[in-house]
Amino acid sequence: MYIFIMTLKENIQNLLQQVKELSANDEKELEALRIKYLSKKGVITDLMKDFRNVSGDQKREIGISINNLKTEVFNKINEIREKLQNKSQDEEKVSLDLTRTAYPIPLGTRHPLSLVKNEIIDIFTRLGFCLADGPEVEDDLHVFTKMNFAADHPARDMQDTFFVETNPNDVAKNIILRSHTSSVQARVMETTQPPIRVICPGRVYRNETITARAHCFFHQIEGLYVDEQVSFTDLKQVLLLFAQEMFGKETKIRLRPSYFPFTEPSAEMDISCDICGGKGCSFCKNTGWVEILGCGMVHPNVLQACGIDSNKYKGYAFGLGIERIANLKYKISDLRLFSENDKRFLDEFTSAN
Ligand code: DAH
Repeated sequence: MYIFIMTLKENIQNLLQQVKELSANDEKELEALRIKYLSKKGVITDLMKDFRNVSGDQKREIGISINNLKTEVFNKINEIREKLQNKSQDEEKVSLDLTRTAYPIPLGTRHPLSLVKNEIIDIFTRLGFCLADGPEVEDDLHVFTKMNFAADHPARDMQDTFFVETNPNDVAKNIILRSHTSSVQARVMETTQPPIRVICPGRVYRNETITARAHCFFHQIEGLYVDEQVSFTDLKQVLLLFAQEMFGKETKIRLRPSYFPFTEPSAEMDISCDICGGKGCSFCKNTGWVEILGCGMVHPNVLQACGIDSNKYKGYAFGLGIERIANLKYKISDLRLFSENDKRFLDEFTSAN
């Protein structure tokens, strides 16, 4: 009996020591510890079985030390559990992006030029036009040569055009910033045979001093229609429809003869001033009309230069300035506002989105 008691005491002592050093890396390991010590088949239960054989005078002392051991195991397991929970919370903290903007994130607004551009695209795509685009850094060939500009046309001049690279032997190889979106006409016609019906929105550049009325970059939308039977009447009808969709059913249009190298005949189109309703005001300089675009029948030289048979096909084209339309629609008289990104200005278009 004596030996039995001594081994039991020693056993409890060893276990106490063991328990102090327990550790677990995760919940699974912790559960294994709990089962090893506290389950029905665990260490404490085994000790309780031995305890039944302990004689009366030793019962109290051994009972207390087994209880102690049990409490130690409980405490240790709880301590490990708490540590594991704190660890996983710390890991969660690391995966939080503390630089992220707090909710609610204020929504941005669309730029007025985008609003106008999208509206124009919407009108023309409903009429069957597709979108096309071309590079802003272009060669002279597409901006001028194929568009029937004479070699000495003033638009080719340094004063109007930004040059990226010049080629003294062949002006058509000069690399420039496109000064109009008409270059996309050439790009499309080179690669596509009629029927062609495209609109080409994009940014253009001109070497101008920046003022309220002029800027070194602005935006245009080019339109091109090429097919077997295309007439000036078709052009006029499409432009009237566009003007009325854009500015209201009462809008009138007026075509004035003009000149562009790439169209013949050429015209400029005015719409009735929607500020004064055509009566005359400072905006329309008391004429009752405001100019919004250039247009005409595609010059046969342009068709030929782009590989389209000018005996078989005809076309019309038009080009309008997006700033000009935005100007009329939103009464913005200073062009610089469009590119200054002044938030107070941009916020005015929140409800137009
Ligand atoms: N490219 C002209 C400009 O920048 C606008 C223009 C006029 C385009 C007549 C056309 C057109 O397609 O037919 O001023």
